[in-house]
Amino acid sequence: MAETLTYLGIESSCDDTAAAVVRLARGRGEVLSSVVQGQTALHADFGGVVPEIAARAHAERLDLVTAEALDLAGIRLADLDGIAVTAGPGLIGGVMSGVMFARGLAAGSGLPLLPVNHLAGHALTPRLTDGLDFPYLMLLVSGGHCQFLIARAPDSFTRLGGTIDDAPGEAFDKVAKLLGLGQPGGPLVEAEAARGDPARFVFPRPLLDRPGCDMSFSGLKTAILRARDSVVAEKGGLTHQDRSDLCAGFQAAVAAVLTEKSRRALEAYVAERPAAPALAVAGGVAANSAIRANLTDLCARLGVRFTAPPLSLCTDNAAMIAWAGIEQHRIGQRPMGEITARPRWPLDDSAPAMLGSGKKGAKA
Ligand code: KG4
Ligand code: ZN
Repeated sequence: MAETLTYLGIESSCDDTAAAVVRLARGRGEVLSSVVQGQTALHADFGGVVPEIAARAHAERLDLVTAEALDLAGIRLADLDGIAVTAGPGLIGGVMSGVMFARGLAAGSGLPLLPVNHLAGHALTPRLTDGLDFPYLMLLVSGGHCQFLIARAPDSFTRLGGTIDDAPGEAFDKVAKLLGLGQPGGPLVEAEAARGDPARFVFPRPLLDRPGCDMSFSGLKTAILRARDSVVAEKGGLTHQDRSDLCAGFQAAVAAVLTEKSRRALEAYVAERPAAPALAVAGGVAANSAIRANLTDLCARLGVRFTAPPLSLCTDNAAMIAWAGIEQHRIGQRPMGEITARPRWPLDDSAPAMLGSGKKGAKA
């Protein structure tokens, strides 16, 4: 009979406190519960996530979200096969809160505890939601991450490139701030862009002139700032149409960069002749319909399957951590020694270090 495994996942590496129960049965994963408590309101006055506030909020809420996740799933600790906890990368205080909590729970219950890389959690999600086979190409695009990974096995990833500065979500959020829109900026900029003319302001397409899959988004934000200031200097203020046109131009530039870099990453991946080529996206920016439409077209042209997990599993959550724990368990990984929290933890040690560390902590 196929293996049945039930794992509790715990996530606290940024500004979401999350717990979830996931079960593998008959070869398929099922999310039995997924509880996410965001902290947007706690950080709203500070223009970014304040690590100390985040860590304290995680410490106060981890037991509550875990009890809720177990309750919703109808599962007792004794029914579990193990606990998986995000052990990095991320804001170190938050990661430590989760690891300390999980260590206590594991010690008290006698359950095995597996450390999970947050990025592996995102990258393995398409196997939970769509049953993708290895190897597939993953584009992680969120407020904290932006990288292309070939996922080869639960513990084997090749990074083809990534942002050398801001993540695209950060750029959306900063542009929203420059234009007096609210936070998080992505959905608001997208709504404005839908009413705007993308051709009125043509913004740079950073790093498209260089080979490879690395990206850069911080210069774009400066270009929007300059364009905004010159409109204000000329007219004394911004009309609603100016704002929409700026958003449309910005979104078109981000979409163009992501699409062309995805084309290059797909070219490198398809050259390996995968049996069932697939591109999966994850992260909050994957919700953007212009970006999604471009990627869907690109994949259709290249004969590559395109998948995007439902948004609740695309953004930070603990079901992906529980699932990554199950995947590790299946390949025979077992707890070894004491688990420590790691602020940086690249998925691919052979790729050059990513030095960027944005408002949401380390990028790898
Ligand atoms: O994956 P996510 O929830 O979290 C972290 O990065 O931690 O991604 C959030 C990011 C934010 O920066 C938000 O502005 C962006 O995803 N985002 C979007 C859209 N919806 C969310 N960006 C562009 N278009 C959207 N529709
Ligand atoms: Zn994340």
